[in-house]
Amino acid sequence: MNIERWLPYVRWMPSSWIRRLERFLHRIPAVRAEMEKEYSEILSSLEGTVKPYRGKVPTYATLPQKGVAKEAILQMMEDLQRQESQRWQEGYVSGAVYHGDAAWIDFLNRVYALHSQVNPLHADLWPSAAKYEAEVVSMTAAMLGAQPGDEICGTVTSGGTESILLAMLAYREWARDKKGIRRPEMIAPVTAHVSFDKAAHYFGIRMIRTPVDDQFRADVKAIRKAITRNTIVIIGSAPSFPHGVIDPIEEMSELARQHGIGFHTDACLGGFILPWAEKLGYDIPPFDFRLPGVTSISADTHKYGYAAKGTSVVLYRTPELRRYQYFTATDWPGGLYLSPTLAGSRPGALSAVCWAALVAMGEEGYLEATRQILETAAEIKEGIRAIPEMHLLGDGLWILAFGSDTLDIYRVMEFMATRGWNLNPLQNPPAVHIAVTLRHTRPGVAERFLEDLRAAVEHVKAHPEERGRLAPVYGMAATLPFRGVIDELLRRYLDLLYKV
Ligand SMILES: Cc1ncc(COP(=O)(O)O)c(C=O)c1O
Repeated sequence: MNIERWLPYVRWMPSSWIRRLERFLHRIPAVRAEMEKEYSEILSSLEGTVKPYRGKVPTYATLPQKGVAKEAILQMMEDLQRQESQRWQEGYVSGAVYHGDAAWIDFLNRVYALHSQVNPLHADLWPSAAKYEAEVVSMTAAMLGAQPGDEICGTVTSGGTESILLAMLAYREWARDKKGIRRPEMIAPVTAHVSFDKAAHYFGIRMIRTPVDDQFRADVKAIRKAITRNTIVIIGSAPSFPHGVIDPIEEMSELARQHGIGFHTDACLGGFILPWAEKLGYDIPPFDFRLPGVTSISADTHKYGYAAKGTSVVLYRTPELRRYQYFTATDWPGGLYLSPTLAGSRPGALSAVCWAALVAMGEEGYLEATRQILETAAEIKEGIRAIPEMHLLGDGLWILAFGSDTLDIYRVMEFMATRGWNLNPLQNPPAVHIAVTLRHTRPGVAERFLEDLRAAVEHVKAHPEERGRLAPVYGMAATLPFRGVIDELLRRYLDLLYKV
């Protein structure tokens, strides 16, 4: 059966029909066999990239009989790190490592080493951990519009996703308690981070995704229409992950306030950039607690806060709202139990590192880092604009999304990979972005990026026959209406990661 011939018709079907059709097709042995062949071709082409050390370094599928010498362990790990660090150190990577200077990392590592045994679950043993976390929350709140006398509060979490999960959990619990909402719904523009879908999935909240305008900003009218009596929260990004644009948070949060529902600003990416950009004179629309409708914010310290990987902050307008994310148990035989976030035991060292990073950067440090990042991003943006085959999507200040009407942008990305670049593929519409970090502000990096991008465009133009390795996967994801196929591929990829 030639499924491809029928795809254009399938695409117009309602999604529930497509799912049924997909289940039906999957029961046909010939289709299943064809799919299995496709999966194994794609995955075996990826296996080499994901498992490059097979046969090159010792592998342990079971515990070694006798402990391996510590020196040998360290040496192997140092070797692997050396190989893996070069790309991000030299500024070839979008996002991922946001500071990365050797002296800065040494400082964070010293702080970590001092605290590697600390577990904030035992606040009585390590009151220093509680001090660091309270101050991290307070400094972040002050940076994001808390005024003296405000009750703005929050917790330190393990990352942006956990901050978002907890905020959504808090709204669900709040809405159930205060309004009796049993079938909660949340509204998020299609561009809001996928961790909101994860929250919806984990916590049984119905996700309503709304469209964005031609600049990839939330369409406020569509949000207004989507509000029902079950809506518990509206979400806006400052800025969004895909295109780096800031949603009209002022209008959106006002809408939420008028309806007596929550409003979450996802400032995971922008929390530690936008306040400083505003001080530097950039035109930054309001997005933080200075807007009365904003009831919670997520801001990632492990991104542009320059802390080590593994911390973020979730903030709430009131302690009352924060309480809904807490977990307590009063009659467990293991004793009275209380935990503010998702994990039980937590790495206190990461909170200590986070505190040290914030205090060592200070306002001046963040201001200067932001200045450098925004200036470098402006240079890259100009360079992209000057390539006739490319166009920018939205007006991101330092997250720069670009696509092409004439070339396969995923193949452009793949060519960039051959030059060492690690960029982020986007979809709906197909595009690629680079999140500019301090790694890109070093001399020559922006020029190298533009030079390689121009070479990539020329190469793809000159070789229309090349298929590439990743491009077909993204191409398939962009065009195939059968989402179950892509979903299965992603799950098999995760399985692959756990293969020894
Ligand atoms: C806007 C936004 N929100 C949330 C997240 C999730 O953060 P994390 O990957 O730290 O869980 C990201 C990650 O890039 C993001 O860009």
